[in-house]
Amino acid sequence: METKVYMPTPTNIRHCAALLKRGDIVAFPTETVYGLGADARNETAVRKIYEAKGRPADNPLIVHVADAAQIKEIAADIPAVAVKLTESFSPGPLTVVYRKKSIIPDIVTGGLQTVGIRIPAHPVALDLLRDAGVPVCAPSANLSTKPSPTTAKHVMEDMDGRIPAVLDGGACRVGIESTVIDVTTDPPRILRKGGIPVEEIVRVIGDVGVVRSDSTALCPGMKYKHYAPKAEVLFSAYYDDMHSTICEYYDKLKTSGKNPVILALAPRAKLYGSRAVMTVGADYRAYAHNLFADLRLADEKGYTVVIAEGVEPKGIGESLINRLIKSSGGQII
Ligand code: TXA
Ligand code: MG
Repeated sequence: METKVYMPTPTNIRHCAALLKRGDIVAFPTETVYGLGADARNETAVRKIYEAKGRPADNPLIVHVADAAQIKEIAADIPAVAVKLTESFSPGPLTVVYRKKSIIPDIVTGGLQTVGIRIPAHPVALDLLRDAGVPVCAPSANLSTKPSPTTAKHVMEDMDGRIPAVLDGGACRVGIESTVIDVTTDPPRILRKGGIPVEEIVRVIGDVGVVRSDSTALCPGMKYKHYAPKAEVLFSAYYDDMHSTICEYYDKLKTSGKNPVILALAPRAKLYGSRAVMTVGADYRAYAHNLFADLRLADEKGYTVVIAEGVEPKGIGESLINRLIKSSGGQII
């Protein structure tokens, strides 16, 4: 199959919307990561997503809609707390899990009676959703286990020849996936940390539960190997002089013939002297924006081990820690 990359002109967006409506799959940009979309009501179309990604079918997909009115067509009931969340954070990197209506087939939700819904804050995604006029379920547009794609080039690395179309909307602003919150329980529970920090959610709706990221029965996607480049990833715990430990590991790896690189915040790069460093930007937002792109870049540059700096567990830092633990397979130094 030939995979075409489309610039997001109105004509091209309409063309991709037509592909979705007739049961084809299309990769498209969102503010978090690129998604691989299908008409969520069409089982045959949804099956194509699992095939293209090599994704286990018990891992539920997030349904993307253009506005709050469309949520009502899919969610069986909408608690007051969900209305508050949508008013505060949508469009944006928040997915809300509701009880589902039967219009959403089991293949979308991995057999669960709930459905995750989000309104993406990306003009191309919103235009595509409006033109298609159907709810679009979409996981991240990477091969299963690879880092999520944050550019159309990343999507092509994984999906060239496997899907008909990629809409190129440039680099994704946030760079890590949405926060997933389940409102079918009281209090609501955060199932996956992501683009909206937990503190911001607490400020709007008060206390929430936070499900441990190893609680896979609740957020099935979290049990699989994830976000892994070819290189081995080591992730440092956060403490004042973590750079000393990182340098020690780097030097040992180098002596044993490996080709390591350190992922560091730009203002800290000088702490590593002449060692190979890839800077992830000035702050945690930038680190999140660049993480997946830099893991892929490390492979491209031939590094065999990535040592990622630790971050403080606050704000977006908590979401970063979750992704770094997954990418490293839990190899914390
Ligand atoms: O930012 C994002 O969320 C991106 C963009 C494309 O929107 N999508 C994304 O999808 O990250 P995916 O499939 O890679 O991850 C979806 C996560 C999985 O961990 C899955 O288990 C969880 O959301 N999820 C989806 N529906 C759920 C449900 N009904 N109950 C519990 N967890 C759910
Ligand atoms: Mg994913």
